[in-house]
Amino acid sequence: MTAGGPGPGRTVLLTGAGGQVGRRLRRHLPGYGWRLRLLDQRPIPDAETDDCLVGSVLDDDTLRAAVSGVRAIVHLAAIPGEAPWPDLLSNNLDATFRVFETARRAGVARVVFASTNHVIGFSDRDRMTGPDDPVRPDSFYAATKAFGEALARFYADEYGMEMACIRLGSCVERPTIVGHLATWLSARDEAALVHACLSAPDLQFATVFGISDNTRARWDLESARRLGYRPRDNAEEYAEELLEAARHDDRAARASGFREARKELGLGPVPRGPAQGDIGAPGCRS
Ligand SMILES: NC(=O)c1ccc[n+]([C@@H]2O[C@H](COP(=O)([O-])OP(=O)(O)OC[C@H]3O[C@@H](n4cnc5c(N)ncnc54)[C@H](O)[C@@H]3O)[C@@H](O)[C@H]2O)c1
Repeated sequence: MTAGGPGPGRTVLLTGAGGQVGRRLRRHLPGYGWRLRLLDQRPIPDAETDDCLVGSVLDDDTLRAAVSGVRAIVHLAAIPGEAPWPDLLSNNLDATFRVFETARRAGVARVVFASTNHVIGFSDRDRMTGPDDPVRPDSFYAATKAFGEALARFYADEYGMEMACIRLGSCVERPTIVGHLATWLSARDEAALVHACLSAPDLQFATVFGISDNTRARWDLESARRLGYRPRDNAEEYAEELLEAARHDDRAARASGFREARKELGLGPVPRGPAQGDIGAPGCRS
């Protein structure tokens, strides 16, 4: 089985197509020649195509209809964060098994699985982490994604399917906090990475990190580059403004902490010093 690049039969199923990541992929992935079939448990009011199914991946009939005739699947549908265990059990664990198994039975060659950077959330942040470093999930949610990665490996080894796991970073339009300087994945790089996973020749199994070409990255992009990923964006472009905003917030937090501490000690507001020019060296400021 092989997926190859776009060409005849280039339809790709996006599960969870109505969500944040799905919306971005719907915008950018068709530019690579892929035709999209959308599946989500909620209607997608702004869907760009009629090839659209509303239903859960937990429903066998819906899922069978969704995978029929597609070249590959990008499996996004999940609860994307910490949630009560029964919800994670069905939407993240069982759903992932059903998607992989239905793909196998339908002869769909390739599946791209949306994992998360949180599977290595407890790794040492002072050094570069690669895809072969031990999994260290930082939540129950992350543990469900680690299971999805292990299951993908099993389907590759046991059934010869072509499986790619993307440990997505921060899928936001632009970096908004200092942490994003390392973890940002721009929308166009996200599509470029998914396209690389969909079209790389000779793929059997790959784990890649999903980030842009960020100067401050702590996750190794080498395995993604081997699939042909060439990121074009870099969060560093936003560094100056984000670091300045963080310095400002820090000063404000310290000032507010100082005021709170005085209040707790019953000291009241800081008394105003003498008017400038009364005493002290010229130019001296409090
Ligand atoms: N957004 C990020 O920064 C980020 C980071 C790391 C990983 N991820 C992963 O990427 C994927 C997409 O995340 P997102 O941010 O778009 O989440 P989202 O919640 O915005 O979208 C998920 C979509 O999946 C659908 N869905 C959930 N369960 C379903 C089911 N059983 N059947 C059919 N549809 C179902 C939801 O209705 C929703 O539209 C998730 O697997 C998430 O864990 C996202």
